Amino acid sequence: MALIVKRGTLPKTPHTEFYAKKDVLALEEIHGSYGFSGAYARKMHVRRYPTEQIAPPKAADFKLAATPAGELPLQPFHIRTGAIPYQDDFVRSRKVLFFGLSTSVSVSKPTKSMAAGEFFRNGEAYEAVFVQEGMGVLASEYGELSFKPGQYLIIPKGATLQWRLRSPRAFFFIIESAYPIHFAPHYLNAHGQATLTAPVVETEIGLPQLKPARDEKGRFSVLVKHNNGRMTRLTLGHHPYDLAGWEGALYPFSFDSSDHHSVAREIHTAPPARQTFQSGQAPYNGFSICTFRAQVEGWHPKDIPAPYAHYNVDSDEIMFFSNTSYGPRQGVIEPGSITFHPASLPHSPQGAAALRSMASRGKISDYLAVMIDTFFESLAPTKTALAYADKGYPLSWAKAGMAQGVWPSQ
Ligand SMILES: [Fe+2]
Repeated sequence: MALIVKRGTLPKTPHTEFYAKKDVLALEEIHGSYGFSGAYARKMHVRRYPTEQIAPPKAADFKLAATPAGELPLQPFHIRTGAIPYQDDFVRSRKVLFFGLSTSVSVSKPTKSMAAGEFFRNGEAYEAVFVQEGMGVLASEYGELSFKPGQYLIIPKGATLQWRLRSPRAFFFIIESAYPIHFAPHYLNAHGQATLTAPVVETEIGLPQLKPARDEKGRFSVLVKHNNGRMTRLTLGHHPYDLAGWEGALYPFSFDSSDHHSVAREIHTAPPARQTFQSGQAPYNGFSICTFRAQVEGWHPKDIPAPYAHYNVDSDEIMFFSNTSYGPRQGVIEPGSITFHPASLPHSPQGAAALRSMASRGKISDYLAVMIDTFFESLAPTKTALAYADKGYPLSWAKAGMAQGVWPSQ
């Protein structure tokens, strides 16, 4: 994240003597990305290092690993995540649906907050979490961020989190990456500011509000996800939210999808104009995240607003449909539907979508969907995804197809 933020109190000069409490030397920590070379945060702990465990680490009684669906024939998928039950807290409700070497996609549909003395740390992936339903607070050592439907929460690998609900239930779409997730770099100028033609404005992000340091002894469990979904329970003897202050460019932040200020053109606007975030070194690895939201459809007198059939042979595509207004899939998708189109198969609008879309020429659309396009990374479905798959999806184009004109007789 290009925006450098400072919260609480810490010494002006890094790694110098500092006392947040009288006669108690504060202890400094660097939370870094790309080793010591990427975005980082400098954190001042009031009196304890975050390494002080008071019980041996042990395996948690659950895992968040992907269970592969097996060697299925090549096919597109439509997953009805609306049918997945709501249960438990944010962590235990997580279900991996698609996974690759550095990317995975999950949903979580919790009915309660995490326990007060328990925390979650994704030790192997950065996360972008889209809030489909529910309200609450994402707490971390960096402070508290409120969330509501339609928002993204962008979370650094290794942050120590507590998901608290202020609604009876919630529904999250979770994208994980081995690489940092941030605004598309080509939207930022050499000074880190969003350019005046970008669809995002970097200062519109929501920032964590640091609360007074929890300078407390006790037993605090940190559930750490590592090594492809294994979970280890660490037990700290002090509260993990013990910062007097922090500063830097690596921290959780929120971004409202309605703040993706769409860029349109006279003829069909291809997805790169809808890109919000990026992970990895595009276009060589990682992925882009696009926000499909309200925008003026092409106003050329003969524009076809429905997209092309497309065959992007270097990208696996996943779309999460927040509502059902997306024209090319109308009649197929439900709220919360996920489609998966692997690189090696072309895909297109369904049925009469291209003809139908002409009615929206020059008008403002009202769809909301999140799309991930990987770069040179194949994804695969899990057994869980398969359990909620629409088995008729691979043949749905033929079923919905429109015969046009007069065919030659056979
Ligand atoms: Fe597509």
